Amino acid sequence: MRILFYTGKGGVGKTSIAAATAVRCADLGYRTVVLSTDLAHSLADSLDVRLGPEPREVTPHLWAQETDIHHNLQTHWGTVQEWLTALLAWQGVVDSLVADELTVLPGMDELANLLWINRHREAGSYDVIVVDAAPTGETLRLLSFPDVLRWWMEHIFPVHRRAMGMARPLMSAFVNVPLPSERVYDNIKELYAHLDQLHRMLVDPELTSVRQVLNPEKMVVAEAQRTHAYLQLFGYPTDLVVVNRVLPPEVVDPFFAAWKDTQATYLRQIAEGFQPLPIRTVPLFENEVLGLGLLRRMGEALYGRDDPTHIFFRGRTQTVERGPDGTFELVIPLQFAARGDVQLRQTGDELYVRVGAHRRHIVLPRALAGRHATGAKLDGPARALRVRFGSSAGDRATPAPPGPR
Ligand SMILES: Nc1ncnc2c1ncn2[C@@H]1O[C@H](COP(=O)(O)OP(=O)(O)O)[C@@H](O)[C@H]1O
Ligand SMILES: [Mg+2]
Repeated sequence: MRILFYTGKGGVGKTSIAAATAVRCADLGYRTVVLSTDLAHSLADSLDVRLGPEPREVTPHLWAQETDIHHNLQTHWGTVQEWLTALLAWQGVVDSLVADELTVLPGMDELANLLWINRHREAGSYDVIVVDAAPTGETLRLLSFPDVLRWWMEHIFPVHRRAMGMARPLMSAFVNVPLPSERVYDNIKELYAHLDQLHRMLVDPELTSVRQVLNPEKMVVAEAQRTHAYLQLFGYPTDLVVVNRVLPPEVVDPFFAAWKDTQATYLRQIAEGFQPLPIRTVPLFENEVLGLGLLRRMGEALYGRDDPTHIFFRGRTQTVERGPDGTFELVIPLQFAARGDVQLRQTGDELYVRVGAHRRHIVLPRALAGRHATGAKLDGPARALRVRFGSSAGDRATPAPPGPR
């Protein structure tokens, strides 16, 4: 089975490209389902059919669905959400650390959508799952969520649950604090297991390919480069860049001359910026790309005779290198992260990396367990983030702040 995940800024053509990919997969004989995790669905318009929350057969081998947010939330998140809402309203009950972790929760609605991937995988009814993902910002927040939730579950919850088990009868008799019920804990545990599974699937390069869709325009390219850095940081296997709406050679009207120059400039920038990833272009069509016929044309322009389920690029996103004097370096390629906006914090065998506004929680590989990060730098032609680890547990550049354990 393969999961093909299309992401990019709003309006670049994600839904069209995802739908065109799904049609092409179905035409090749794969049992394919395409689903949109974007709250603003447009898959039905793109395929020119009516869609519902359950997959519906559109053409032989192709199913499509526009998932229902409210249903998803109720299923996966119902009791937990009620409690969190109550808890957040009760200011001062949670400490700042927990409150900080809670700020990612607004992405939950779209995340509940993504959990359909688990269901399709378990059901085994499809060979290919094509995901038309939410615009860049939300998707990133969603994608980084399982790591945060994992941390939360492993460090806060066991303690919290034990304490609550003892205190609940007493406390609820005297104060108005919204206390989570056992059902809330069970709900969170189940949700965590699902998210953990989803996360595992999405970082498995044999299973998932993340593809970035962009247009040759200043703002779009800049945002896509940032997204790419974060995807690398989070370890999501990106294998292709799709540049959509490129003016085709047959457009010779002088009105478009400057546009063509501009596009040529950004196409060069994309080629330089995204290497070593392969880059494919899709022309601007004469009209909107709606319906199976035009989607087939788009798929042909994008893939030619290639199979969209092919893995177009294989690359490690995180490696450990042995340095001199028994030191190690954790190498994380971050092609577009600017110098100076990397922050590092280590607690035991865990490393918290922050690039810009995005965070990653890394459980260090065995080789690095018990060592301390002594520094990090962005360097080299590959622009990797190199995190240096001392030769023994004694080497420590900066004291780690007190951890939750
Ligand atoms: N290469 C293209 N040529 C012409 N129209 C396009 C092309 N790609 C997308 N469109 C049109 O642009 C609009 C937005 O595309 P859509 O796929 O919905 O973008 P997104 O999902 O990224 O918001 C749609 O009307 C779609 O038909
Ligand atoms: Mg869309």
